[in-house]
Amino acid sequence: MCGIVGYIGKKKAPRLLIEGLKRLEYRGYDSAGISVINKDKIETVKAVGKIHNLEKRLNSINTESSIGIAHTRWATHGEPNETNAHPHMDNDNLVAVAHNGIIENYHILQQELKKEGAEFKSATDSEVLAHLIASYIKKDFPLDEAVRRTMERIEGTYGMVVLCRKYPDKLVAARNGSPLIVGIGENEFIVASDASAIVEHTRQIIYLHDRELIMLNKDEYSIKTIQDIHVQTTIEDIDWDIEMIEKGGFDHFMLKEIFEQPEALHNAMRGRLDEKEMTTHLGGLSSVKDRLRQTKRIIITACGTSWHSALIAEYMFEELAQIPTEVEYASEFRYRNPIITEEDTVICISQSGETADTLAALREAKRKGALTLGICNTVGGTISRETDAGVYLHAGPEIGVASTKAFTCQLMVLSLIALKLARMRNMSHIQGDKIITALKKIPFQVKEIFESDKIIQELAQRFTYAQNFLYLGRGYNFPVALEGALKLKEISYIHAEGYPAAEMKHGPIALISENMPVVVIATKNSIYEKVVSNIEEVKARKGYVIAIATDGDKTIAKKADKVIYIPETLSFLVPILSVIPLQMLSYYIAVLKGRNVDQPRNLAKSVTVE
Ligand code: M6R
Repeated sequence: MCGIVGYIGKKKAPRLLIEGLKRLEYRGYDSAGISVINKDKIETVKAVGKIHNLEKRLNSINTESSIGIAHTRWATHGEPNETNAHPHMDNDNLVAVAHNGIIENYHILQQELKKEGAEFKSATDSEVLAHLIASYIKKDFPLDEAVRRTMERIEGTYGMVVLCRKYPDKLVAARNGSPLIVGIGENEFIVASDASAIVEHTRQIIYLHDRELIMLNKDEYSIKTIQDIHVQTTIEDIDWDIEMIEKGGFDHFMLKEIFEQPEALHNAMRGRLDEKEMTTHLGGLSSVKDRLRQTKRIIITACGTSWHSALIAEYMFEELAQIPTEVEYASEFRYRNPIITEEDTVICISQSGETADTLAALREAKRKGALTLGICNTVGGTISRETDAGVYLHAGPEIGVASTKAFTCQLMVLSLIALKLARMRNMSHIQGDKIITALKKIPFQVKEIFESDKIIQELAQRFTYAQNFLYLGRGYNFPVALEGALKLKEISYIHAEGYPAAEMKHGPIALISENMPVVVIATKNSIYEKVVSNIEEVKARKGYVIAIATDGDKTIAKKADKVIYIPETLSFLVPILSVIPLQMLSYYIAVLKGRNVDQPRNLAKSVTVE
């Protein structure tokens, strides 16, 4: 949600900042801007829309400057236009600030600053930061102290980078609730809201913590807290390389990420199967093994696609490990007064590890004494650092806004956890063996599904202009129906709903006509016959049925209008397979509609505001 880059060093900052913004464009993309220092002046250029619009205007600032900040925006306060785009300046152009997050008390601060003569140009909450920092600079506070005092005054969330023309060789960055990473190069530093803007320059990074600020010149850095206490930090290594964040010959990141799933799933499993004891090795959980064994209840909290994984995990944990499990939207969990005890385990699932609602839910759970676990993809994200323990997905960077490989890898990791919990409790060695055998086949089975590419593309052509879609599933496939509908809506903008198949007769059946494509996930399981009856109900009302069925199922071919087959596996692993054709269908429909698949309107990859 919004992307920040800052640079100080020997290179030409504007070009480097533009490249960094392009890497972060998936975080937000309605407008962008850059500020650099040119001698004793700050020069700024902004543009509405994509980064390439900004790039075309780059010559209007000093392209030789070696210090600058940049921002790509996802609007929260104020519509996307040049005035509201970042960086923001005070009236004397003394300070420029690029900010992610929300300043909750901006209105009060604005009133105060207006009395001192500040004139506000934008409709954003962020502009107040520039005026406030500038007011401290004018009172002769050094730049880092001006930023620290500003941090003391503001309420809300921020990741910010600050330039000041009075300090042309210094860059300050600060964070609270909005991620910020500092890449350490040779006589240079790159500050960014995530590692994708940094990896091509350096693998060495520092994660800034909440309520900390970092002061940089090209040769050194120092970190302190909002309480003005110096902080010693550790330098960490990023284990990605640049190819992992490039499209590698695919038209879109989403397509690349769909086709990367066999490898990603393999990586999510790698080194984690214990084929002797028929359980899993999850190093990230070893420190909490005893508490996990004693846990009486699991609560899983997440948002969006990650919430769909949570719903599937609920079924898995109850069926395999017999642990009562509940799932709750993080946004709801954080504001109720959930009853949580020390015997509970709260699992937070988040691809980015930065989702504001999930983070707030985690903090609520910690406050109440639960054991907290994080299931995250991005290494070093806030959720993984704040949970007691956790398991990484190892899916590699997911750039497309629509989550694909993170979803299937979440399901893989959750299956590994379910197996571990089950083997700690009631599951037999023989049953564990069966599960491990099935798990090992999954990456190859995903590959087989790609062979249905042609059928899926034909379906996409047939339904490019459908107004609505209905997705139905039962048991483990019900959350898959939700995920299929979400995927279609977010990238094609077609209205779609997911339902438990049996619920259809309680309302949605009224929508069914010959114009309604209905995707039914009807794989072979204990409630297969019931799902077939649901298909009959749709057919009786002339709906067009696209069935996702188990290889070799001949019955379904007679009932549905089109069938996409997936290989057979254990019921709880079916979602990893059954979601693949749904991801592909959404992708192809969105492409045929000419949508911006990787950056759909109004969305952002990482939602770091409420
Ligand atoms: O990074 P997270 O997994 O916490 O993100 C949660 C949701 O914002 C995310 O899954 C969103 O729903 C995606 N756009 C779905 O494709």
